[in-house]
Amino acid sequence: MIDVAILGATGAVGQRFIQLLEGHPWFRITELVASERSAGQAYRDAARWVLSGGPSDEIAAMEVLPLDADVQAKLVFSALPASIAKEVEWQMAEAGHVVCSNASAYRMAEEVPILLPEANAEHAELVKVQREKHRWSGGIVTNSNCTSAPVVMAFAPLRKFGIEAAQIVSQQAISGAGYPGVPSLDIMDNVIPYIGGEEPKLETEPRKMLGALAGDHIDFLDTVMSATCTRVPVLDGHLVSISVRFAEPVSEEDLIAAWDSFVGPDPVPGLPFAPPQPVIYRRELDRPQPRKDRDAGNGMACVVGRLRPCPVMGGWKFLAMAHNTVRGAAGCSILNAEVLVETGLL
Ligand SMILES: NC(=O)c1ccc[n+]([C@@H]2O[C@H](COP(=O)([O-])OP(=O)(O)OC[C@H]3O[C@@H](n4cnc5c(N)ncnc54)[C@H](OP(=O)(O)O)[C@@H]3O)[C@@H](O)[C@H]2O)c1
Repeated sequence: MIDVAILGATGAVGQRFIQLLEGHPWFRITELVASERSAGQAYRDAARWVLSGGPSDEIAAMEVLPLDADVQAKLVFSALPASIAKEVEWQMAEAGHVVCSNASAYRMAEEVPILLPEANAEHAELVKVQREKHRWSGGIVTNSNCTSAPVVMAFAPLRKFGIEAAQIVSQQAISGAGYPGVPSLDIMDNVIPYIGGEEPKLETEPRKMLGALAGDHIDFLDTVMSATCTRVPVLDGHLVSISVRFAEPVSEEDLIAAWDSFVGPDPVPGLPFAPPQPVIYRRELDRPQPRKDRDAGNGMACVVGRLRPCPVMGGWKFLAMAHNTVRGAAGCSILNAEVLVETGLL
């Protein structure tokens, strides 16, 4: 078994890590880290559990460590706010830890991949570039902003058609804002038409993730994306409405066949957290829906539907949905770590 530490273990994503790692065949949680507010307390007292069920008795009794603790685990999952992650994740990598991060701090660093393994497992090779450039034995691997996840999963099988331009409107769940997140008086009976910092991320991260590994960096996908991000009163599951123009004529059958047959590159399909079918196209007129589809593939699949021609783009439009704290955060990070183990980078 590989020992793992979770940074930000008491937050929305940290709790999801704890839930998803229970019974993992390769990884076992040995250290939990959070802020000074939580350090020194038993996990059960420090964390206000927001998921269904609860942590195991063993996790509940673990003492939460402060951020400056001498973490022993080689593999570190980070669910820290980006401002804190910037310093801590770098120090961890320098000290020889492999950090799989949910924070945005290093996503755009040239030698750091934004991994979503079905779309870009080969980008993990950048860890070797980091080791050479920074003379460290650790590494930093990020996963995307939670809304980029369904966009990249839906687009990965369609790259071969030449994605020229895309317009994206998101309806994002409240768990995407962490805990305690958006005040209930703001979100109940409402839609909030602005999420700070999200739109620039959604217009750039997918281009890096769908890009090609070119030695010591990624060549971004040559496309343009326009994003509008909104927050809606849904607990989990980000829904995105996408209009896209392709370089070549593409039929409805071509698109559905590309999604249906998509599995991602080796070694991804055989990994413990890889869903059997990463992209599920549903033909019903009223799918995908967050409540009904967020647990598809144990929360690791992207559900797509409502494919129809887009007269404005001269291409196609559809909806895609993925679980924001599973595929868009902790679950993707665990799959990323599995890729690192399987490829010998960890
Ligand atoms: N929620 C999502 O769907 C999602 C998806 C993708 C990426 N992300 C990213 O993942 C990260 C975590 O998000 P979240 O939603 O889980 O946030 P959250 O619920 O606010 O949790 C933040 C965690 O960080 C800890 N923390 C805060 N300040 C700290 C400090 N100064 N020192 C040490 N620990 C500190 C908190 O510990 P205490 O409890 O002790 O304060 C808590 O464990 C963020 O970077 C976020 O952008 C989130």
